[in-house]
Amino acid sequence: MGKKIFSGVQPTGNLHLGNYLGAIKNFVKLSEDKDNECIFCVVDLHAITVKQNPVELKENIRETVATFIASGIDPKKNIMFNQSQVSAHSEAAWILSCVARMGWLNRMTQFKEKAGKDKEKASIGLYSYPILMAADILLYDATHVPVGDDQKQHLELCRDIAQKFNNDFGIDNFLKVPEPLIQKNFSRIMSLKDGKKKMSKSEISDLSRINLKDDESLIINKIKKAKTDTLPMPTKLDELGKRPEVNNLLIIYSSIKDISLEEAIKEFSRKNFSEFKEDLSQSINDKIGPITKEIKKLLNDKNYLDKILQEGCIKASEIASKKINKIHEIVGF
Ligand code: TYM
Repeated sequence: MGKKIFSGVQPTGNLHLGNYLGAIKNFVKLSEDKDNECIFCVVDLHAITVKQNPVELKENIRETVATFIASGIDPKKNIMFNQSQVSAHSEAAWILSCVARMGWLNRMTQFKEKAGKDKEKASIGLYSYPILMAADILLYDATHVPVGDDQKQHLELCRDIAQKFNNDFGIDNFLKVPEPLIQKNFSRIMSLKDGKKKMSKSEISDLSRINLKDDESLIINKIKKAKTDTLPMPTKLDELGKRPEVNNLLIIYSSIKDISLEEAIKEFSRKNFSEFKEDLSQSINDKIGPITKEIKKLLNDKNYLDKILQEGCIKASEIASKKINKIHEIVGF
């Protein structure tokens, strides 16, 4: 039986190799299976949990949908829309926020990381954002949610919220408890400067990540400057545990080339780092270059991108409004 896939990406600009390898590449694969029904959401409501420039946000929404299409998701066969245009997301988030418990949210590590030391100054939206994420998923009866490892805890919370809602109202299996789809090995692409830190758009140094908009020479330069260590290239998998930066670069290579980590190690064992880095930047450019070109081309046709989002919104609204109506009935509105 096919899967009902739902996932989202924030339109905050600077989509990077972590987003691509950890999530979008998997979206493409899942969308190619004819048995699956896929919905990919540009989560603009999530984006405003931190301050956004309205003009840039509008452009970033288009850029995110352009990235989906440029990466290989067919807009004719899959639903793509932006979250703010389907009001059921905000409504369901409110209702589910009355089901979720403070204690559950207090455990969310991403909030702690993002809010930093001055939690008092973080927006309430940043705190409750995993509830909105649960609303996104549960409105569509998604069975599977492809994400990177950093979203795993939010998905566990989504499962808890679904189960509590069903229990509280005594309706078995009304909100479907979704399964996370987290790729083994490729679910956590790390910073090029620190193999223990996630590659992230909010990291100050641009040298820490490969952005999908970087040009060829910038990618070559960033890989050249990527941190490694003084040992020779590894020859065995178990050497990688203590070498996080080298591990990360080999993971990137194997994901881009669709080979196993073992095969990547074998290919470069006994070669030197400069050779590996040259091949790595070449492989990234071969994969990302055409996507970047296509994103730029698509961004020249704003009407086309807006049309895709509008059509997606109509289809998504149809599904979401049925579910929210049932939720209203169950709650007693
Ligand atoms: P966001 O926009 O931060 O990231 C989008 C996707 O990219 C993955 N990702 C990574 N994967 C591997 N390595 C990395 N360094 C890396 N950085 C980011 C994320 O795990 C994610 O899959 N809350 C979500 C968006 C969201 C969502 C949803 C996802 C909203 N509603 C419903 C699934 C279902 C977020 O902020 O992702």
